[in-house]
Amino acid sequence: MLRFGIIGTGRIGDMHARLVALQPDARVTWCYDLFEESAARTAAAVGARATTDLDALLGADDVDAVLIASPTNTHVEMILRSAEAGKPILCEKPIDVDINKVEECREKLAAFDVPLQLGFNRRFDPSHAGVQKAVAAGEIGALELLVITSRDPGPPPPRAILEACGGLFRDTTIHDMDMARFVLGEEPVEVFAMAANRVDPIFAELGDVDTAMIVMRTASGALCHINNSRRTNYGYDQRVEAFGAEGMVRSNNHRPTEVSRHGAGGTATKDELLYFFIERYRAAYEAEIRDFIDQVTAGKPPNVTFEDGRRALLLSEAALKSYQTNKPVEVNYA
Ligand SMILES: NC(=O)c1ccc[n+]([C@@H]2O[C@H](COP(=O)([O-])OP(=O)(O)OC[C@H]3O[C@@H](n4cnc5c(N)ncnc54)[C@H](O)[C@@H]3O)[C@@H](O)[C@H]2O)c1
Repeated sequence: MLRFGIIGTGRIGDMHARLVALQPDARVTWCYDLFEESAARTAAAVGARATTDLDALLGADDVDAVLIASPTNTHVEMILRSAEAGKPILCEKPIDVDINKVEECREKLAAFDVPLQLGFNRRFDPSHAGVQKAVAAGEIGALELLVITSRDPGPPPPRAILEACGGLFRDTTIHDMDMARFVLGEEPVEVFAMAANRVDPIFAELGDVDTAMIVMRTASGALCHINNSRRTNYGYDQRVEAFGAEGMVRSNNHRPTEVSRHGAGGTATKDELLYFFIERYRAAYEAEIRDFIDQVTAGKPPNVTFEDGRRALLLSEAALKSYQTNKPVEVNYA
């Protein structure tokens, strides 16, 4: 039985806690949040103790591992304090939006022998993982083009979340950067990005963009394109398409049902896409937690690492720099 302490019980922390509680060999014993009501609500749902004192959670004998789902700007502190306490860590993405803080954290973390899995949940989505497996198995021959479409449903998230998130490239595109590395099976070495404000004035007010197109090249010459928008009116648009000399493999969008309607208003009309990440990636979040439990219990290293988080952030930084300078940017992972 792996006993979890949940750090941060907001949108995603509450969901993670409930998914942990569904696992036969895991349970949530402690929930910590700055806000008592938030911690208490999640704790009540999963039969755990609530606290507003991080030391109480980290010092508890009945916490074997932590799941960090507090705001991004607290992750580095939470990671290092959890590592000092010797607790295996499942940490939400991104590690931080400041690459210097990530590098410092990396150095300090090296002193601890504590596993850390980073929350790139999309790697565990059965459809996207199916694309990766097909590519790795050589089903399409050498990969030539990878197209990642990743568009959020409107309206924009609340201002407080946007202010804290680090902007489109480092908060949202970072998932696509990780998906690109995962499916390509090699590192992008050059990035070119264009971006725009097309969706809502709040993004420009915060110095951010809401629409982006990115092109990347790997050392072997494969090309990858990512397109992002902060607004669809048809649900969460999440597609990954890999193309090679011997074919194409694609993961399509998900709907609540596959019923198609035919009549005077149109043919083959289907349900809207699943609304957003909680609905679309439920299976992925559960598989991510399952993998963490299995790896920690077996004493094996995590399958998605701190280094994966660092490299995805370096790619997001390169995209941002390319957008700001209107020039291609080479990526150095050293
Ligand atoms: N992997 C994904 O698909 C995904 C999706 C959404 C969010 N996230 C990530 O999860 C993290 C949380 O995002 P969210 O949308 O749940 O945010 P949120 O604002 O809904 O929740 C954050 C929670 O942390 C609490 N909190 C704030 N400061 C804290 C502190 N110092 N200590 C403990 N708790 C604190 C808040 O009270 C709140 O309950 C972010 O890093 C975000 O990037 C990942």
